Amino acid sequence: LDDLLAEGVTGRRVLVRADLNVPLDGETITDDGRVRASLPTITRLAEAGARVVVAAHLGRPKGTPEAKYSLAPVAARLGELLGREVALATDVVGESAKATVAGLADGGVALLENVRFDARETSKDAAERDALATEFAALADAFVSDGFGVVHRKQASVYEVAAKLPAYAGGLVLAEVEVLRTLTGDPARPYVVVLGGSKVSDKLAVIESLLPKVDAILVGGGMCFTFLAAEGLGVGDSLLEAEMINTCKRLLAEHPEKILLPADVVIADAFSADANTHTVLAANIREGWKGLDIGPITVERYREVIAGAGTVFWNGPMGVFELAPFAEGTRGVAEAIVAADAFSVVGGGDSAAAVRLLGLPEDGFSHISTGGGASLEFLEGKDLPGVSTLEG
Ligand code: 3PG
Repeated sequence: LDDLLAEGVTGRRVLVRADLNVPLDGETITDDGRVRASLPTITRLAEAGARVVVAAHLGRPKGTPEAKYSLAPVAARLGELLGREVALATDVVGESAKATVAGLADGGVALLENVRFDARETSKDAAERDALATEFAALADAFVSDGFGVVHRKQASVYEVAAKLPAYAGGLVLAEVEVLRTLTGDPARPYVVVLGGSKVSDKLAVIESLLPKVDAILVGGGMCFTFLAAEGLGVGDSLLEAEMINTCKRLLAEHPEKILLPADVVIADAFSADANTHTVLAANIREGWKGLDIGPITVERYREVIAGAGTVFWNGPMGVFELAPFAEGTRGVAEAIVAADAFSVVGGGDSAAAVRLLGLPEDGFSHISTGGGASLEFLEGKDLPGVSTLEG
């Protein structure tokens, strides 16, 4: 971005790929962290006189427009935060997009409609993605990749377009990559990873690749029940991915001292804020009940490990924190990270949202990443197409 600004951008159309994939309740944005994280790059370009064209996705529409995935609420919020109107095109690269871009004044900002309304964005066929990228490129004179949360996706607005325009890394992508490189380099020891979230299948690859490099992995969230089942415990109606049990068993056998599992859990008779609940030992989960949070003994145990850490990476909530009876595990672990004298990185949409929704101090963490899957794939050592295309 500095290079682009040094070249001068006045009057130039700059396409910025941002990650504005925010959680919505109807049309209300429940956490605008990703919108706020996109502001510095957009502001710097606009203040330098560029005509800023922002491209972003929302959710996973199936390649056709769907009102519930419109970026309209995001355009409104972006406009509020920027203190200027953000024109929203009603299509991705069609007549509305062309007219909206043509109507931009120097320093103006426009947002294209959800790029995933065009099936070519996520197509498995590279030629289709390439064709869409050509249409994106026709809307701009330069490209800035600033959507760190989406750089792990080989998609037209992330990857192919970068080869069709002079392409630059935005400040957010640079900052994220720099912080995550600290973790893959020589992190201060002990290096403790806290992993939660619902699906263990999403996390096994990162667990597998992190185990040799870290000192401890503290497991919570829905994914812990497959691990508990691998230990031979009954998990009632808790989330369980039976086909993953054997992999969990192998990981536990290979690294018994590194993987920590909950000693107690909060169980409920329904997935609801007014369900009946009990806190029980992990060995005593009742038939017909589901575990929705880690319990206080576990929080205390995890707190002790976190307190002694030199580096902490946290991805995924410890329970269903959106519902008050199941928020204490996530809150307790997050507070322990804030209190620890460690270099701490929060990775992931859900855990970053949890920090803000639970009212925890954002400056209590060294870095809150905007990338969920992207930060995990970075730590796994995978190639991130949206980054490597800029390095090539
Ligand atoms: C995310 O929410 O992690 C990013 O916005 C990427 O979204 P995706 O997983 O739908 O590609």
